[in-house]
Amino acid sequence: MIVASELPRDRSTLLVRLMVAGPMLPQAVEDLAALSEDAHERVVAEQILLNLRHVELRRAAQQGWPRLGALWTVRWILEPLGQYTRPAAMLPHRPVAPKVSALPYRKLQEGRDYWILDDAIKNPHAIRERLLQRKDWTFGAPYRDEGWPGMRALPALLPDELESIESWVRKQTGAKRLTQRASPEGTTLNNNCVQLVGAHESGIRPHTDSRLLCNYAAVLYLSPSAPPQCGTSFYRVRQPNGQPGGNYVSPPHATLVDALGMRVVPPNTFVEDMRVDHRFNRLLVYRSALIHSASAYCGVALAERRMTVVFFWMG
Ligand SMILES: [Fe+2]
Repeated sequence: MIVASELPRDRSTLLVRLMVAGPMLPQAVEDLAALSEDAHERVVAEQILLNLRHVELRRAAQQGWPRLGALWTVRWILEPLGQYTRPAAMLPHRPVAPKVSALPYRKLQEGRDYWILDDAIKNPHAIRERLLQRKDWTFGAPYRDEGWPGMRALPALLPDELESIESWVRKQTGAKRLTQRASPEGTTLNNNCVQLVGAHESGIRPHTDSRLLCNYAAVLYLSPSAPPQCGTSFYRVRQPNGQPGGNYVSPPHATLVDALGMRVVPPNTFVEDMRVDHRFNRLLVYRSALIHSASAYCGVALAERRMTVVFFWMG
């Protein structure tokens, strides 16, 4: 058995002291920084420290720590290594900050970037009751490792119901046909899919829908009791100087993850640009390359959860 706090402070114990972390970590980071940049300890340990940084940032986001606290932690771990101020020099092939400059911005305009139809479908209460009776739900996050939350079933709308939605969308967007597309690997989006998500099953998840699979997406709100703030939000990235930046993904990138160069981004990467309120039987159609997310979820009991039908089209 080794007592970490009694290890001599020399190079032979450095990796062990870094792995033990705890109160010994600052001293170990200092020792690591004193080594030359090509020292094998730095090659091995820097990835561990970067992983630690991601854990700290994620924890900060989940626990709602003040941003200053999270940044202080990052500086404490990385500044001695020169990572905080010189990330490119230290890790030339591994981006340590999202590439927010890859995203252009356009001011959102109704009728060009998004479309809203209230009282969108006939008999919304009957459709909702029919959907609530379904027994063929598939579970997503947090129950399974899926990119979508809560539970889903499809198809949601019957052919004539779907046609009434799609004919309006064709008319508004000018698209002659609305189709579903599969990726070369066979991936498809869950079009015409009912989704039920409770208040504690997910939070906001800014994303874009793959440009390879769709260019329009839509959501039909079907919860009579959901509060207005459970609608859909559109976001801009935050630039390094704190100002709001781009809000959509453009070629050659297919998704937001492609454009930013990373899947897990630091807290405060996004700033809300516009929110469309939830309203029962409202249809919101939008260009799916825009950064978007459900604004919030609600309810615990099945009938109280945020019910939507989601659509994805190439048009
Ligand atoms: Fe989406």
